[in-house]
Amino acid sequence: MKKSFTTVGCGRVGGAMARYLATAGYQPAGFASRSLSSAKRASEAAGSSAPASVQPWDVTPGADIVLITTPDGAIRETAVKIAEYKGVGKDTVVLHCSGALPSTELAALADCGAKIGSMHPLQSFADENIEQNPFAGIMMAVEGQEQAVAAARQIAESLGAAPFEIRTDCKRLYHASAVAASNYLVTLMNLSLQLIMVSGVAPADSWKVLKPLVTGTLGNIEKNGIPRALTGPIARGDMETVEGHLAEIGQKAPTRLELYRLLGRHTIEIAQAGGGLSEQAAERLKEILAPTGSTD
Ligand SMILES: NC(=O)c1ccc[n+]([C@@H]2O[C@H](COP(=O)([O-])OP(=O)(O)OC[C@H]3O[C@@H](n4cnc5c(N)ncnc54)[C@H](OP(=O)(O)O)[C@@H]3O)[C@@H](O)[C@H]2O)c1
Repeated sequence: MKKSFTTVGCGRVGGAMARYLATAGYQPAGFASRSLSSAKRASEAAGSSAPASVQPWDVTPGADIVLITTPDGAIRETAVKIAEYKGVGKDTVVLHCSGALPSTELAALADCGAKIGSMHPLQSFADENIEQNPFAGIMMAVEGQEQAVAAARQIAESLGAAPFEIRTDCKRLYHASAVAASNYLVTLMNLSLQLIMVSGVAPADSWKVLKPLVTGTLGNIEKNGIPRALTGPIARGDMETVEGHLAEIGQKAPTRLELYRLLGRHTIEIAQAGGGLSEQAAERLKEILAPTGSTD
């Protein structure tokens, strides 16, 4: 029989995880949340009759695994409270799902003999109403004490995700990478969409116009790696085009100019790594793309 679990923090991640863990044969042992209604709703969605409470320590004792899926800011205090009320036993596995915080946020529970870890699904859970398993086919970063990591790996695989291990002391950097890949990609697309709309393409068409370029570039990165995926004026050392961009953006979308310059400067490094840009051209491009007002 698969292990039993209690969910503490019945929101988007906690609710989805409980539901799909139950589907995979794990036994719901209890649900706790700030509000009783959330705990009850998650219990129902998991098809269980396990008890619901607003006090985690009412429902954590006896569970093989405790999943703390509160917001990041509440993980440590929740762990401390559960420890105070002796809500875990020796060898209970306790996992949180934060990307940014390490498993050591749960140190108070390790002091009680629990095995602590973290398990971060690389997925964006925007909505509680999900129709398909959001864990299927995604990556899940796991770290922590050995027994906890083993349990997290099993959970990930049962949910249809692929676990991979990261270092506890590098958790924040790992999360910064995920933020860059997801959140900053949104910021970058926003820049691109704003410029294309200023250029006169109808807002309704703008994403349709850019999407094949975006997906083609992602495909090139996957196939050929970063330096070889870079094309365009900086890779070619085409100063005139770069200067033309800056002049137009400065006139028609001036609030976007600094970001365009900054990204350009970082793109010079990539062009040089690709071997197609001479030292002299790189230096000239750095001058052209220097921050406004810079005297260097
Ligand atoms: N959302 C994402 O895309 C995503 C992706 C990967 C990882 N994560 C991580 O997953 C964790 C949960 O995030 P989420 O997006 O699921 O958050 P969420 O939707 O806001 O859900 C958090 C739940 O925790 C409950 N809660 C708040 N404070 C609590 C406390 N002190 N004790 C018990 N329950 C409490 C809330 O209560 P009530 O509903 O009862 O008021 C809420 O239902 C976080 O560590 C987050 O970093 C999130």
